[in-house]
Amino acid sequence: MKTLISVVVPTYKEAENIPVLVEAVDRVMKEAGLDYEIIIIDDDSRDGIEESVASLRERNFPVSIKIRYGQRGLSSAVIEGLRLARGNVFVVMDADLSHPPEKIPELVRPILEGQAEFVVGSRFVKGGSVENFNLYRRLVALVARLLARPFIKIKDPGAGFFAFDSRILTAESFEKLNPVGFKIGLELIVKLDPKNVIEVPINFRPRFYGKSKLTPREQLLYLIHLKRLLHYKYRSIHQLLFFALIGATGMVVDMTTVFITYGQWRIDFRIARAIGFVVALTWNFFLNRLLTFPDSRTKNVFVQYRRFFLVSCLGGLFNWFIAVYLYSNYAFFHRNYLLSVFLGIAGGFLINFFGSRNFVFGK
Ligand code: GDD
Ligand code: MN
Repeated sequence: MKTLISVVVPTYKEAENIPVLVEAVDRVMKEAGLDYEIIIIDDDSRDGIEESVASLRERNFPVSIKIRYGQRGLSSAVIEGLRLARGNVFVVMDADLSHPPEKIPELVRPILEGQAEFVVGSRFVKGGSVENFNLYRRLVALVARLLARPFIKIKDPGAGFFAFDSRILTAESFEKLNPVGFKIGLELIVKLDPKNVIEVPINFRPRFYGKSKLTPREQLLYLIHLKRLLHYKYRSIHQLLFFALIGATGMVVDMTTVFITYGQWRIDFRIARAIGFVVALTWNFFLNRLLTFPDSRTKNVFVQYRRFFLVSCLGGLFNWFIAVYLYSNYAFFHRNYLLSVFLGIAGGFLINFFGSRNFVFGK
């Protein structure tokens, strides 16, 4: 059986680049003696790309196009393309010629020879480079790279040019894919967990025609993507981190509420303090439901709220009890009373956390 290479190309307003790209890929693949297909996923650009592809097909280039309507997104477009791909090796690359087509054989060969399951066209290994990136874009790329460190060890986790063994993308693994934004390579490496990931240096060139779609919105989507990966790969750390962060914001909400109800409106302090507690509790509840335990949102919100209330009261009680117990029974804690308070808070936090995880938002 002859091997086939599927090249998946997401496009949005890239019509002018397509003939240049297809001809370049064709030349390279013929030279390397590789059979290939090109699959373009276009998000309804209406810039003449369909006509352009039709005329390339007439000239016998093995290229096809699928237009998606009412949807935008690089990563989801790539996934759509991977569903259609039939090759033994899948290659993903941009349409704008930033990714050098002449490198495709170098990405593909280690996979065909069984040395790797995933090969990344890397800008940041020895021999790789980025042309014409200004200081701002370099900085953004650096921060983006550091944030991806906990998930994959490679030098260029943001790469959009890569190849992998099509066998690692099984029907079940499609279900796991859930990316937003641009970093589809990162998503695939984390979720498919390929055995050997290697990096091949590339020179990332300025785009040929048109302009970049990497907007601040994409950078925000990247943070959302990272949160999802954290939830996927390190669930407990993700939960603890978000529970603690939300708890900290709840404290601010609590104090602000007391400041308004007691400080401004002169409501009785005992009542104001209780209002602050309930407002903060409600705030914490909804944020935790949305961000810390996103899988539990299908369950009845009133039942969950009632349970959260209960757990929070228990946590508060424990908090108080621990502090008072330590303070009253040990001279050491009597002297260092703030330490008693701290340990009370920590104990209350654990009650709140595990109660929320197992009882409120659990199975
Ligand atoms: N279908 C579809 N839908 N394609 C899209 C969309 C979209 O919403 N947005 C962008 N694309 C396509 C573009 O048409 C292009 O082919 C490719 O995705 C990359 O988009 P660019 O606008 O050229 O992005 P870039 O050059 O800033 O980003 C590239 O470099 C980054 C590293 O700095 C990409 O390769 C990124 O994946 C990479 O992280
Ligand atoms: Mn580009």
